[in-house]
Amino acid sequence: MSPEQRAAELRAEIEHHEHAYYVLDKPDISDAQYDALVNLLKALEAEHPELVTPESPTQRVGGKPREGFAKVAHSRPMLSLDNAYNEAELRAWAERVTTSLPASDAVEYTCEYKLDGLSLALHYEDGQLVRGLTRGDGSVGEDVISNVRTIRSVPLRIAATKLDAAGLPSTFEVRGEVVMPQSAFEELNRQREAAGQAAAANPRNAAAGTIRTIEPSIVAQRRLDFYAYFLLRDGDTLLKSQQATLDALRTAGFRVNPQARTVKTIDEVFGFIAQAEAERDGLGYEIDGVVIKVNATALQKRLGFTGKAPRWAIAYKFPARAGVTQLRGVLFQVGRTGKLTPVADLQPIFIGGTTVTRATLHNADEIQRLGLKIGDQVSVERGGDVIPKITQVVEDKMHPRGTQEIVFPTVCPRCGEPVVREEGEVDWRCVNASCPARLEEELRHFASRGVMNIEGLGESLVAQLLGHTVAETVETGEGEESVAEAPTREALVHSVADIYGLTLEQLMGLERIGQKSAESLLAEIEKSRSAPLSRVLLGLGIRHVGERTAQTLAEEFGGIDALISATEEDLTRVNDVGPKVAEAIREWFANEKNLLLVQRLKDAGLRMTAEKRTRGTKLTGMTFVLTGTLPTLTRDIAKEKIEAAGGKVSGSVSKKTTYVVAGEDAGSKLEKAREMGVAVLDEAGLLEML
Ligand code: IVH
Repeated sequence: MSPEQRAAELRAEIEHHEHAYYVLDKPDISDAQYDALVNLLKALEAEHPELVTPESPTQRVGGKPREGFAKVAHSRPMLSLDNAYNEAELRAWAERVTTSLPASDAVEYTCEYKLDGLSLALHYEDGQLVRGLTRGDGSVGEDVISNVRTIRSVPLRIAATKLDAAGLPSTFEVRGEVVMPQSAFEELNRQREAAGQAAAANPRNAAAGTIRTIEPSIVAQRRLDFYAYFLLRDGDTLLKSQQATLDALRTAGFRVNPQARTVKTIDEVFGFIAQAEAERDGLGYEIDGVVIKVNATALQKRLGFTGKAPRWAIAYKFPARAGVTQLRGVLFQVGRTGKLTPVADLQPIFIGGTTVTRATLHNADEIQRLGLKIGDQVSVERGGDVIPKITQVVEDKMHPRGTQEIVFPTVCPRCGEPVVREEGEVDWRCVNASCPARLEEELRHFASRGVMNIEGLGESLVAQLLGHTVAETVETGEGEESVAEAPTREALVHSVADIYGLTLEQLMGLERIGQKSAESLLAEIEKSRSAPLSRVLLGLGIRHVGERTAQTLAEEFGGIDALISATEEDLTRVNDVGPKVAEAIREWFANEKNLLLVQRLKDAGLRMTAEKRTRGTKLTGMTFVLTGTLPTLTRDIAKEKIEAAGGKVSGSVSKKTTYVVAGEDAGSKLEKAREMGVAVLDEAGLLEML
């Protein structure tokens, strides 16, 4: 057998087992046998690199998109659904449906679970997955294909035999929902907690954040799932009914909600809803209702859309899970930026499977909005969220009001320095740069997964390094607050850089740490010295500098020294860096203490340079605004070309605009350019400059 045939054979075999495991939940070989097959394929591909294809099962975790995610227009808008919150609203919808259709048309309803995730459009060409678009603003989404590939229940290619069996052409679009299963979500939060990070609020947010992460290997670890529910071709529904669509998707190898059912009467729909509510807690993933769709495509077409939602479908939402309990008090947590967050201390109450004792109150405005007083009876909701919220004060004969005012502290609960509220801001902050709460949060952030990845340096160890004893650590349920009392032992760490000077003896002197864990922690710290500059920048905890910005800054400036000496102008010339971010960066590097920290991290051997992105210089210093439709270039490509030549693209016309590039149907931006006397180019003019 030729290597090529052998590779094809192995791939088909692996794909079969992946489908059994990840789509059907019915593995037919052991994990070890599966791994062995993958290893055989990897070895073969290593020997014959020319045989590697993007659809090979070995390529699920590939490189990250260098330029971020490309924006792509949807084949037809990704709309949302109208909601029904009770029986009457659902019956009214069914009534509208039947009365708008000729009496001869018997309406069937397809009922599906409403998965609590985010929608995604997968494009297949020639049976191969080529794009995976997020909803975006509904008309234009972002292509997160490198992350979608890591989702094991998404087929990377579909064999012709399967397409035939499903009655599908080889080029089509599948829409569906990405969800994070409960188990994956809990695992993620365990890790986040161990790394001292705040818990993700709910599986939907976690899934949404994950799908836009620029590092596919992180996405792969989080185990997302994809459930398909629509099949389109060139923006049109492909098959003659929703039920046929679901069946075809299943045959083609997609994961489809197994509980979906087509029924003939609205009473049967209520039967389905009752069953869904009963099964909800045992599914392993979150659903927040049931979606009801008119089954026949022909009838869907006749019913049409209202602009923001189809008339032929509706979401029946489950009632939120709520309960009433008493507000016992308010605690104040101090975050990494010094921000004080009020947290409600509640009389324990059992809601939707867990005991709730804390709820976030966000800020002073929220307390005022609710009109809260200590002792009040409050309505607490957990809408699939991990962190519950207070929705209102309950007041009636059975629930008398509380009387004690909530007073925001005038001094930081951790360091005792006065707190301030800046003009126009809602948050109170402790501005003492040496507040122990800050250092604690800085350390946790620096060491966390996705930043410097120092495994083992989590909440409890950070507290100990700062001199607290284990007994003082209080569990708040949110993995946020940690220490109640003043330090009782000398701190081993006074700055993030001190992590790199820790010794085995020091670590072994801490409570609950044996030689083994001390050694592995030191190895983790050692390993972090070679983390790329983008991670180090992220680890510094500069306000507004997240993963993406840190990555861009590293690539644009190529080293920390260039960044330190960058002016606000240099910074805003970089894509994605606006004046607010630039100011935060400048402010951070203008601080002596921070510069000292950078120097000490440098001395500790951390990576302070990165490969600089090379750019042309033809358009350096020029800012372009694109408007209208250009004859040959898409916006994205025009933008790419301008940036590659050193120019910047901005969304609005201002004094800083050098040229407005106008295409067909250019609107107000072109007008504004004329008013302001900004030079206008057409595509040809732009190409000439390039
Ligand atoms: S159909 C034209 N089916 O719910 C609208 N949506 O609230 C197509 N969702 O944006 C949506 N499960 O993200 C449909 N079985 C299901 C769904 C579902 C979850 C989401 C979807 C949509 C949102 C609307």
